[in-house]
Amino acid sequence: MRNVIVTGGGTGIGYAIAEAFVAAGDRVVVTGRRKDRLDAAVERLGGSARAVAFDATDPAAVSSALTELPERVDVLVNNAGGNTDFVQPAADDDDLVALAAAYRANLDANLLSAVLVTAAVAARLADGGRIVTLGSIAARNGAGAYGAAKAAVEAWSVSVATEFGPRGVTANVVSPGLTVDTEFFRGRLTQERTNRLVAATLNKRAGTPADVAATVLFLASPAAGHLTGQVLHVNGGAYRAL
Ligand SMILES: NC(=O)c1ccc[n+]([C@@H]2O[C@H](COP(=O)([O-])OP(=O)(O)OC[C@H]3O[C@@H](n4cnc5c(N)ncnc54)[C@H](OP(=O)(O)O)[C@@H]3O)[C@@H](O)[C@H]2O)c1
Repeated sequence: MRNVIVTGGGTGIGYAIAEAFVAAGDRVVVTGRRKDRLDAAVERLGGSARAVAFDATDPAAVSSALTELPERVDVLVNNAGGNTDFVQPAADDDDLVALAAAYRANLDANLLSAVLVTAAVAARLADGGRIVTLGSIAARNGAGAYGAAKAAVEAWSVSVATEFGPRGVTANVVSPGLTVDTEFFRGRLTQERTNRLVAATLNKRAGTPADVAATVLFLASPAAGHLTGQVLHVNGGAYRAL
């Protein structure tokens, strides 16, 4: 039985990833800041799922959480993140203080969260283990601070793959396009925007959390042992890696 940590596993894509690992018979820990959301997720997940609540952007909180995290980690899924501009709207370029805060918030939520959790559990990573980090199509298409933060995740993940590669540990980024049925858009996704994003796909549909989870599960499998340092795009062809 593998020990799996899914950060941000209480909702959306992270929940679907946790669900897929539970279905595969793995022992799963879901993390996030909202304990009530995590407890509800664990209740639905059943199996051996557990919740550990902490803010992945806070070094002290990540360190403290270590006592509750597994002693051996086979799979780490750095899924926590999102576009913080949706919570605190992006500042205009005239207000440099607000602009700096907006960029830092996105870098914290998407890059630092993965950096801190990975570093915290590094000594517990099993040989042949797996690290999967969620990127975004925004890393290639823009989206300001959020896209920049997800692009940084891609570069960082290659460093991780390099560091842990000799131990048979792989590190990859799974980069979704529009994925519905999550809290990501915080009610801001209009029908017009949905139509535009779906039209950009080749299969003419939005992605689902299950689409992303299936790719993460494959990367965590023994079959994917020689696949590392890569970005896998799960977006219906809306972005085509050349
Ligand atoms: N949905 C899409 O269209 C889409 C597209 C491309 C990429 N993505 C990426 O996919 C990942 C999952 O997003 P989602 O769509 O499933 O949205 P979501 O439902 O909002 O999930 C994000 C999860 O991350 C957790 N989280 C956020 N900041 C955190 C922090 N500082 N510490 C701990 N946990 C934190 C949240 O829980 P708490 O708020 O309780 O902490 C939440 O459970 C994100 O990295 C996102 O950027 C999503």
